[in-house]
Formats: sequence, C-alpha cells, structure tokens
Amino acid sequence: MSRTDDDSWDITEGVGATALSVARARAVEADAQCPLYLDPYAHFFVEAAVEAGWRSPFLDDNPVRAQAMAAYIASRTKFFDEFFTTAGANGLDQAVILAAGLDTRAWRLPWISDTTVYEIDQPKVLEFKERVLAEHQAKPGASYAAVAVDLRHDWPTALRQAGFDPATPTAWSAEGLLPYLPAAAQDALFEQIDDLSAPGSRLSVEAFGEVFYSAEQLARRQERMAEARRAAAETGGPEIPDVTRLWYMEARTDVHKWLTDHGWEVTAISAVDLMEHYKRPAPDDLEDPVPDTVLLDARKL
Ligand SMILES: C[S@@+](CC[C@H](N)C(=O)[O-])C[C@H]1O[C@@H](n2cnc3c(N)ncnc32)[C@H](O)[C@@H]1O
Repeated sequence: MSRTDDDSWDITEGVGATALSVARARAVEADAQCPLYLDPYAHFFVEAAVEAGWRSPFLDDNPVRAQAMAAYIASRTKFFDEFFTTAGANGLDQAVILAAGLDTRAWRLPWISDTTVYEIDQPKVLEFKERVLAEHQAKPGASYAAVAVDLRHDWPTALRQAGFDPATPTAWSAEGLLPYLPAAAQDALFEQIDDLSAPGSRLSVEAFGEVFYSAEQLARRQERMAEARRAAAETGGPEIPDVTRLWYMEARTDVHKWLTDHGWEVTAISAVDLMEHYKRPAPDDLEDPVPDTVLLDARKL
C-alpha cells in the first residue's frame, strides 16, 4: 500500500478507498436526526462498493473517536457546501472540485443558472461515481465535466481541454486532498490554481498543520491503528487499511501564508472552532480528537 510517484487506484484500493470512507461518513450523517446537509447519494456508493466485494472497515474501535471523526467530516462537508453556495450567490458560475472523490455537490447543491462544475480525480474513481449515479438516475444541477487526470500530472491542460476558461472567476475546492500529494506537488498545485484564477476567484482549502505532519502524532496514530487492526483481526472483521501509509509525511508550505503572499485575501477557521460553530464539538478529553486542520476561504484580489 506504499505510494509511488505514478501510482493509480480504483475506488476500493488505497487512496481511492479513502473516498469511500468519506462517503460512508456522509451516509451516516444522512441518517442523523438533524443532518448538517443532505446527501441522498452517499448510501448508493457504499452499497455498490460492498456489492463489488468491498468490506467496509471499522476505522476505529473507539466509538467516541469514531463519532468525533464523523462530526469532523460532517462539519467539513458543510463548510465546503456553504463555500460553493456563497460563491454562487456572489455570481461565480465556474467551479472546480479538486480530488472530488465521491463528493456529490454537482448533483445536490442549488447551483445558479449556467454554472459549470469540473471535477478532477483519477479515472477509475470518476468512472465508478458516474456509473453509480447513472444507475440511480441522478442528474447534475449544473453543467458537469469530469476531468480524469492525476493532480501530480499536467491537470491544467486537461482542465482547459474540458472547457475551463481561466478568464472567468472560479470557485475552487481542495478537500481531503493535501496529505495524499507530495509536498512539491502541493506547492505546484497552488501555483497552478493561482495561474488559472482570474481576479475575484475564490478558493476553499482543508489545510493541514504542523502537528498533523509531526512524527509524534504520526506515532500515536499508528499505535491506535495497530490496536484497531488487532481488534478487527480477532473478531474476523475486514482488514483495516493503514491510511497513514498513503500520506506523504513531509514538511509543508503554510497554505494560508502562501495565498496571502500571492494576493489572496484569506479567512481561516480551525476544525475545532468549525465543529463548535456547527454544534458538533470535538470531545475535549480525547487525545488528537480530530486532524490538526484549518479551513481556508480565500478570494483573489
Ligand atoms: C479522502 S478522499 C476525499 C474525496 C473528496 N474530496 C471528499 O471530501 O469527499 C481523497 C480523494 O483524493 C483523490 N486523489 C488523491 N490524490 C490524487 C491525485 N494525485 N490525483 C487525483 N486525485 C487524487 C483520491 O482519488 C480520492 O478521491
């Protein structure tokens, strides 16, 4: 499961399966008494993957921690939903969802007229998604273009070939992505976004902090993961993938600072404050309850 420069994956494999884990969390939120958002499609992805032989792993044997993670994903999803809704209300009608995975915003958000949503991810991930949505007669609420390309390759050319217009202000998102990119590819990604962004463009980012990439936190995470794997093996549960082996644990450019230095006006909220704001607080008696992240909302001046 270790990474290579040119690796690729299907939806049930390695990095692809992380999109399924997020979809599973969104399916759980759909059943909550007072959900933060509605995602009627998340169940379909999980069911289709299970039919294809995927066994949904329990990512954590500690229910409090699992609940904290579900609250994190729910709050994060709501943040990006609100970002795109606000961008639309401000007249942006071109959106690019980087590493879209099984995100269904193009199908479930109320887009303003004439919006085009471009989704970038690996080919097999987007194929799976389109197949499942078509099987359930889901129709996008905007013009939709799947751009099947690796974000470590020349994705700007693929995006332009799909019809993207760099002269039109764009709403961008990078959610659940950055640790899966090498640090150099992350730097290139923001350079490329900046190049393709007309003034007035907006960008939302889940930015991971120093603690997330620290050796100390990684060791604690791996220890917990090993325990969960042992428990799963004892009860005959599905094997738990070690997601930490999919991340590039390298020192990173501070995204907030980089954007500010390159002419973007940035507001930031920590994951913990965001969860508090949405009344899904992280438990304060748990070590590392949620990833050390900040959610950024940036506007190019
Ligand atoms: C944790 S999932 C998040 C998916 C989605 N953003 C969400 O929040 O539901 C990570 C996604 O990043 C995609 N991804 C990671 N590295 C990528 C790369 N180099 N090129 C294209 N997609 C990538 C994976 O295929 C996967 O769909």
